[in-house]
Amino acid sequence: MKKQRVAVIGLGPIGNKHADIYREMDGAVMTAVCDIDKERADRAADRLGVPAFYSVREMVSRIELDMVSVATGGEEFGSDHYQPTMEAINAGLHVLGEKPISNEISRGEEMVNAARDKGVCYGINLNHRFTPAARLAKQWVDEGRIGHQLFINVSMWIMNLRESSPWFQIKALHPHTVDIMRHFAGDIESVQCFAVKAPGRNIWSTAQFNMKFKSGALGHLSGSYDIERGHPMERVELAGTKGRFVIDDVFREVTLFPAGDMVKQVYSNPVFGGMRDFDDTFRNRLGTFIEQLNNGVSPNEIDGSGADGLAAQKVLSAAIESIQTETVVKVG
Ligand SMILES: NC(=O)c1ccc[n+]([C@@H]2O[C@H](COP(=O)([O-])OP(=O)(O)OC[C@H]3O[C@@H](n4cnc5c(N)ncnc54)[C@H](O)[C@@H]3O)[C@@H](O)[C@H]2O)c1
Repeated sequence: MKKQRVAVIGLGPIGNKHADIYREMDGAVMTAVCDIDKERADRAADRLGVPAFYSVREMVSRIELDMVSVATGGEEFGSDHYQPTMEAINAGLHVLGEKPISNEISRGEEMVNAARDKGVCYGINLNHRFTPAARLAKQWVDEGRIGHQLFINVSMWIMNLRESSPWFQIKALHPHTVDIMRHFAGDIESVQCFAVKAPGRNIWSTAQFNMKFKSGALGHLSGSYDIERGHPMERVELAGTKGRFVIDDVFREVTLFPAGDMVKQVYSNPVFGGMRDFDDTFRNRLGTFIEQLNNGVSPNEIDGSGADGLAAQKVLSAAIESIQTETVVKVG
């Protein structure tokens, strides 16, 4: 069986999670870790039994790899992805990067273009679409069971008390929600956004967006970094002329309400063999990337691609401009 030789770059909580998941997989071999923070790299290397590197350049010149996970963070959780991603792409490696693709659109564009020019696969950890519930909902869309799409409503909230930049919530939380919206309803043409600062906060920690899709469908999104865990975290509702589905709490349940029919279809996450917890969204996403590489898919077939990550960030950039100008903004 083919196995991807993987290195994880950036060994914070998320990079360590990636490494643990690759270690469990049949289709991958954890081969190295790399962090500019020597202590973090060494600790992960000891734990995983792989060599540690402190620079991507050195790592790619010293060992044979097929792909890397880039789980760096930085400003707005996205400024540090650029350098290691470009170095890995230039070394001819496939890359699975954390969201947001970048906190700067121009750098996101450079990364997507570099991967295309090199012919390597570039995916983003848009993990919310990698659940059985989302897969079934997508199948319903593709089978025409929603019909002509009319509106999509999405909400997502977690508590995140970081205050790194005024736009942190919009840029770092909503790659997930906007990706889910694009996944089901396609490209977004224009956006209007309002945001508020919760009591005691200095950043735009809660936001609501109105969107118009290229298809003509309408979108509404609410999101927040102000709500403690314990509530359902994400809800997705897509309605069309033939039916409507609701995904409740990321992966717990998806219900299809066919138009004019009193009988609905419900998929509930099973206790045995179902998703255990949110970490399984990572397992599914990383597993799909590895499976796609092992199956030799072409770079433009990557599910949750760099281009998808970039498209979501462009919507968020338009939303920020909308807050600043109090206007409806076309997505660039
Ligand atoms: N997909 C999800 O559901 C999800 C959830 C949470 C966080 N994230 C994302 O995961 C990423 C990482 O989060 P975290 O909390 O682990 O971050 P973190 O800041 O704790 O860790 C990042 C690590 O990257 C290292 N690093 C930075 N630049 C580097 C470089 N050039 N080469 C090598 N190492 C470098 C840092 O030294 C640090 O140890 C963020 O982008 C965040 O948005 C995704």
